Amino acid sequence: MYSVRKVTDDLYWVGANDHRLALFENVHPIPRGVSYNSYLLLDEQTVLFDAVDWSACRQYLENVEHVLAGRSLDYLVIHHMEPDHGASVEEILIRYPQVKIVATAKAFAFMRQFGFHVDGHECIQVKDKDTLSSGRHQFTFLTAPMVHWPEVAVSFDTTDGILFSADAFGTFGALDGKLFADEVDFDRDWIDDARRYYTNIVGKYGANVMALLKKAEGLDIKTICPLHGPVWRKDLGYFMDKHIHWATYQPEEKGVLIVYGSMYGNTEAAAQALAARLCEKGMTNVAVYDVSNTHVSQLIAESFKYSHIVLASVTYNLGIYPPMHSYLADMKALNLQKRTFAVVENGSWACKSGDLMRKELEGMKEMTVLDADLTVTSALRDDQAGAVDALADAVLASMA
Ligand code: FEO
Repeated sequence: MYSVRKVTDDLYWVGANDHRLALFENVHPIPRGVSYNSYLLLDEQTVLFDAVDWSACRQYLENVEHVLAGRSLDYLVIHHMEPDHGASVEEILIRYPQVKIVATAKAFAFMRQFGFHVDGHECIQVKDKDTLSSGRHQFTFLTAPMVHWPEVAVSFDTTDGILFSADAFGTFGALDGKLFADEVDFDRDWIDDARRYYTNIVGKYGANVMALLKKAEGLDIKTICPLHGPVWRKDLGYFMDKHIHWATYQPEEKGVLIVYGSMYGNTEAAAQALAARLCEKGMTNVAVYDVSNTHVSQLIAESFKYSHIVLASVTYNLGIYPPMHSYLADMKALNLQKRTFAVVENGSWACKSGDLMRKELEGMKEMTVLDADLTVTSALRDDQAGAVDALADAVLASMA
């Protein structure tokens, strides 16, 4: 049975939701599922924008067939070839042998790499600012390399002001019937997943995202149709502003993220003592996470959100506690910048984690590490209350 929604009078969402996938890219947990969005335009010519993950292919094909209602499919526009979208391309080519494929040169190269038989079709290669007409609608293509793969392009329907934005402006979370961001309480129920999606999938490529936003500056965008999550037709500025913060590595909130790595609870106790002192002194926007039982994608998202980060780690095999080390490696890989850090270290002998974490942070861009730190020798002692207090003061002073 088909399951489609109308975006406008002649544009349909023909994508699918996936609640069976546990890990997006086999890495990131998606307990709320994910949607693979595809859109079908019924103009003088019919145009299908993008495909879906293999897991959702059957639903997608039923949707496309239903909306076409016997019409032929004239164009397949491929903005992005990562298999969460591109995997079903071949199925469209098989079912609609006359379809013309529209994509960038690199996207065509990827289609061939994935083994798709594109060469029996008319392949229309587009580059920046190339246009396509489907009748009433005119489309302009804008290349968007590394948002989030090198072949990516977005397209803008100048007739209706619709931006088909590829991975940009996407989010984790299945749609489950809702299509538009204004049909949900996005700021309450979706923003955390949107941040986790952006920061972990596209976070590394902030400069490329900003380049795309600059290209799109002059466009009169009324609707954004991303490849994941809700369609935006209202309050576009809200989501745009979030993306500008993320892409420029500016924190969204003044607050303190405390991430601790603790084997037996003693480093955790130090983290909690610091959190209590910060709150007592008036900074209550404090979030505390155990690095061992919080997925690193969540830690990364929170790191993009908060202005200040305290890393508290036990020393392990004369190094940084492995899950903390892995979090720091991800932070570097995803290009987080412009944060202020404080360090808490613990070691029963040969305490090394503080210096080592500082060294990791020195290798990242525009990170400030406060001089004040806290060394725990096995367990925080009552006579170290002053040191906890001083660390809280140093964090607060750096926030002023
Ligand atoms: Fe949703 Fe980069 O694919």
